[in-house]
Amino acid sequence: MNILISKNPPDKPHDVIAAFQKNQADYEFLKGLSSVFHEKDFAGDAKEILMCYGKDPVQKILMLGLGESKDSGKASQYFRSVIYQNRKKLSETIALYVDHLSESLIYQAVTGTLAGLKLNGFFKYEKEVIPTREICIVTQSARNAQIIREAMLMSDTQLSMMHLVDLPSNVKTPEFIANTAKASAGTHGYTVTVYDKTELETLGMKALLAVGQGSIHPPYLIVAEYKGPDTVSVNPVVGLVGKGISFDTGGLSIKPSANMGYMKSDMAGAAAVLGCIEMAAKLKLNIHMVAILPCAENSVDAYSTRPGDIIGSYSGKSIEVIDTDAEGRLILADGLSYLIKNFNPAHIIDVATLTGSIVQTLGYHAAGIFTQSDDLAKSIMEAADKSGERVWRMPLWDDYMTEMQSDMADIKNLSTKPVAGAITAAKFLEFFTENHPQWLHMDIAGVAFTDTEFTKQRAASGFGIRLLTEFVKTLQPQP
Ligand code: BES
Ligand code: ZN
Ligand code: ZN
Repeated sequence: MNILISKNPPDKPHDVIAAFQKNQADYEFLKGLSSVFHEKDFAGDAKEILMCYGKDPVQKILMLGLGESKDSGKASQYFRSVIYQNRKKLSETIALYVDHLSESLIYQAVTGTLAGLKLNGFFKYEKEVIPTREICIVTQSARNAQIIREAMLMSDTQLSMMHLVDLPSNVKTPEFIANTAKASAGTHGYTVTVYDKTELETLGMKALLAVGQGSIHPPYLIVAEYKGPDTVSVNPVVGLVGKGISFDTGGLSIKPSANMGYMKSDMAGAAAVLGCIEMAAKLKLNIHMVAILPCAENSVDAYSTRPGDIIGSYSGKSIEVIDTDAEGRLILADGLSYLIKNFNPAHIIDVATLTGSIVQTLGYHAAGIFTQSDDLAKSIMEAADKSGERVWRMPLWDDYMTEMQSDMADIKNLSTKPVAGAITAAKFLEFFTENHPQWLHMDIAGVAFTDTEFTKQRAASGFGIRLLTEFVKTLQPQP
């Protein structure tokens, strides 16, 4: 795909894509492109489509509705869906008009259009033939051109991280994730250090090792670091931690087989965090960021950790493993402790497909956020508003901690009572943050891997990459 930003549409025959919000439509420029378009035929309702003919060199015009302003966060999905469904009808040269849209919609128009033109079927023997398309994004404004360029960078990162989440777990081992991180770092200008099993033993990452010990694919710890170009003002550190379970069988507390295959997506937190550091490097943000990705496969084996086992951790605290399926919090505990001890971060955000409980609570529409800091909650909610991803704040009262106490160890990995599972999981993580005042946990179990209109099964959503990127942008020193 060849994408260019231009003040003028192509001279050669081409199709036009233009999107409009309901009741805010300004069709003036369209009238110059088509003599058959009538305003009464198109209202701008969400996902409404009108395909009409244009005047030479414009062939077809694909108009799509974006609905009302309150739906504007979903615009990227609408673009992706409509363009994916019409991809075979669209010719090889396409002009996308954006200047009549808000900055937020322009960003989503670009990410949605590019995602819609990308096809799946990666492992199929016979692949759909993808024409080499030329996409010309038409704008007269230097500011809009800047937004488009950033959205193009974001689209590439989102699509490659979504691909990583969609990959099957026989391909996407912890080692594969580590190699993916190294490749991204080499391409985009940040550093990645990878610790293998032997090094993890030396470091004392006992909780991560305990989760990975039942798999033939050994665990890895990935430590990525990015420093902005302005080296004087690059401190303090923002630290991100992402859950990287390459497959979650549940371990000996094995999951039911129905839908177990979805657990290939249990590394979506790691992918979101990796996507964020890749974006920070691409945008050359003036921040100092560390991303920690503890990666392991939670498997069933004679070597697997058993329910009832008491394990150690990087922090020195002991953990009684009540349920081996509550493995995410174990590897995150080591990731958080490692981050705090070695990098002294000013802000900490961990991202994880952590609990079925958050899916019960918020469904597939929002991630749960947990923090004691009102400021950090506010910043993340503002970033989410900007990116169109939804988050909802959950409580972290100490009452929830009483059910996590163990008779023999410092903490249990599962609450005694089968209630409020997302909150008790967050309390477990808090225990390993040394009460850091600027820590936030984001449970993305309901939103990372979902039904879509463009796939027959569930697929990665890319949730969190743009949200985290918008957040870390705000940490740059103000000029
Ligand atoms: N990876 C799962 C959580 C999950 C559930 C992610 C659904 C995406 C969709 C996690 O490791 C897990 O198994 N959690 C258990 C915890 C329980 C044993 C306390 C759960 O939520 O059922
Ligand atoms: Zn699990
Ligand atoms: Zn899991």
